[in-house]
Amino acid sequence: MTRRLSPDQQGLDEAASILRGGGLVAMPTETVYGLAANALDPVAVARIFEAKRRPSFDPLIVHLPSAEEAFGYATSVPDAARELAAAFWPGPLTLVLPRATIIPDIVAAELPTVGLRVPAHAVARQLLERVGLPLAAPSANLFGFVSPTSAVHVLDGLDGHIDAVLDGGLCTHGLESTVVAFEAGIPIILRHGAITREQIAALCGEVGEGARVLERPLAPGQLARHYATRTPLRLFDRADQLPEPAATAFLIVVAGPLPDAQRSGNLSARALSPSGSLTEAAATLFAALREADASGALELRILTCEDHGLGRAINDRLRRAAVRA
Ligand code: TXA
Ligand code: MG
Repeated sequence: MTRRLSPDQQGLDEAASILRGGGLVAMPTETVYGLAANALDPVAVARIFEAKRRPSFDPLIVHLPSAEEAFGYATSVPDAARELAAAFWPGPLTLVLPRATIIPDIVAAELPTVGLRVPAHAVARQLLERVGLPLAAPSANLFGFVSPTSAVHVLDGLDGHIDAVLDGGLCTHGLESTVVAFEAGIPIILRHGAITREQIAALCGEVGEGARVLERPLAPGQLARHYATRTPLRLFDRADQLPEPAATAFLIVVAGPLPDAQRSGNLSARALSPSGSLTEAAATLFAALREADASGALELRILTCEDHGLGRAINDRLRRAAVRA
């Protein structure tokens, strides 16, 4: 059985003691729930891979309470990384830097680098302070499926396979952190996320994109099928491309109101942000995908959003979710 802990003194003490003993605790962060273990204990980290059924070639992010501590696990830190950390930490940004030898191979999937993040969520921060250890934490879902934005989502996938979940309510961003590596000191976005390309460019000027910094293509994003629903999912760029409503279809409109022609006739039709706010849409995207998946619909139809700002991260998740195995 997995214990559900309240994020009070007692719950945090309990969580810290499970982590010190090599156990697994799902913790809320501002992006999605993470499945945490002591990053310095390779056996504890191996349990994360087991519980998530995650392939061992996919490296984990290590979470720390401050930039100073985070950079202590890197052997060198480019200026751009320091600038990004100063601007966006604590927050939804992961920096991929050369790995200190104290970080076990299994954390980094044997890459020479490690992903570091200082989360902003109060519960994650209190846990990090209390446990006094770097915490390796991927999203707390079964590998390849939709990331969890509530404790209930975590239990849906991992109940019985992890020791505890700290229930911190709903995650505010709802999309994972932006993952940034560096090539000759220039930031390269490996995964779009809550911090946008525009925000990074405004600070650093030049920004690259893609996976070529790595010998092996490894960022989560680089796997074509990810964030998958069990129900087939079709994407549409424009409202006039949507098929006629159908009693077997669940429609999700990412940004903007439901088109008039789609207001009735579908099994369900949902606008994530009728006013068109991408921030609002991102926060409920994964919950809506889970709900649609459990609705009995035979097809999920999604009207995507414009491909800029946060929209890039949202569409990226949706494209991967739409790839069938
Ligand atoms: O918002 C988030 O980033 C959440 C919360 C819990 O912090 N974590 C998360 O972890 O989304 P995960 O494991 O689901 O996705 C992190 C991705 C990995 O799939 C991995 O490919 C990439 O970040 N990553 C981690 N370390 C890396 C490294 N050294 N080089 C390249 N990519 C790396
Ligand atoms: Mg994940």
